[in-house]
Amino acid sequence: MTDPLRRLTPVVRLAPAKLNLTLAVASRREDGYHSLHSVFVPLGLADRLSLATAAGHSDTLHVEGLDAGPPADNLVFRALAAARSAVGGGWPGGPGPAPAIAARLEKRIPVAAGLAGGSSDAAATVDGALEAWGAELDDPTRHAVAAHLGSDVPFFLAGGPALVEGRGEHVAPLHGLHGSPGVVLVTPVIAVSTPDVFAAFDAIRHGGDGAVRMSSAHLAEELRAGLTADNLVARAGVLASANDLLPATALVVPALVPFKRALSRLLARPIGLSGSGPTLWALYPSGTEATVAAETVRSALADGSLVAPGAAGPFVCATIIVGHRQEGTAP
Ligand code: C5P
Repeated sequence: MTDPLRRLTPVVRLAPAKLNLTLAVASRREDGYHSLHSVFVPLGLADRLSLATAAGHSDTLHVEGLDAGPPADNLVFRALAAARSAVGGGWPGGPGPAPAIAARLEKRIPVAAGLAGGSSDAAATVDGALEAWGAELDDPTRHAVAAHLGSDVPFFLAGGPALVEGRGEHVAPLHGLHGSPGVVLVTPVIAVSTPDVFAAFDAIRHGGDGAVRMSSAHLAEELRAGLTADNLVARAGVLASANDLLPATALVVPALVPFKRALSRLLARPIGLSGSGPTLWALYPSGTEATVAAETVRSALADGSLVAPGAAGPFVCATIIVGHRQEGTAP
């Protein structure tokens, strides 16, 4: 007989990538983290996660698509354990623990790329597992679970552009983006360790010089008040240099500097770095224009006029910035 508590239809979530349009970093705190002031935006590019309750005692994960490293190390497992522990006996089949989950992850966001794909998967896992179990957590508990899983995770609970501060736990939604600007992402196949970049940041300076912080505060204000896609693109030059981690990432991955310059020449656009990299971005007024630009990049790579660092050809993708919550994204 079928267990009435087992969902037969899996819960599906899209877990979007993020881009940092600005990233101001202050000096290292006592807990080892750095205080940030950063405008985060979700992208159309998203992993697809499906979760179903399963018989047995152990969660399982099947990964398809891009290489996500060893499945056993995937943050999805930690997210399931953290969500189960927070729920305790508080689900319809309680007081025992919530059942095992069989998860499938279609990986479309490159890992260790500055796009927070793993963090987004974790946020979507927590949200999707709660639905699969028929359980609920109040907002502060959900937020605490997310913050415990990683600095970038709380942003994905907000479901739209946001000003992110503190270690990443203070998330203030910014509702003023009108339209869906296009983005070209180019991710060289070089895994960049975020702790290594922050360590390089500490070694070369103590806190940003304040210019990036001002650009970040200005953009946040504009995105709160109202900004069109065209207006955002007009600010690309300022935004492309509004990342305090740029010199640190350049120290960790020196080959990224000439590649960024070559990409900027090819596209005749300012090129920014997302987070600690190595993903480079260019902004366009629409997704259609971004698609054309991505083709230009692919052709230049194919004919050898653009040469990317890394073990293989880079990940090249045209997508959009999502200015409002999309159906099916977490939560
Ligand atoms: O929180 P999470 O595990 O994602 O952070 C990864 C690493 O990035 C931390 O160990 C730390 O070195 C660095 N980090 C930081 N300040 C932040 C976020 C991350 O120094 N606000």
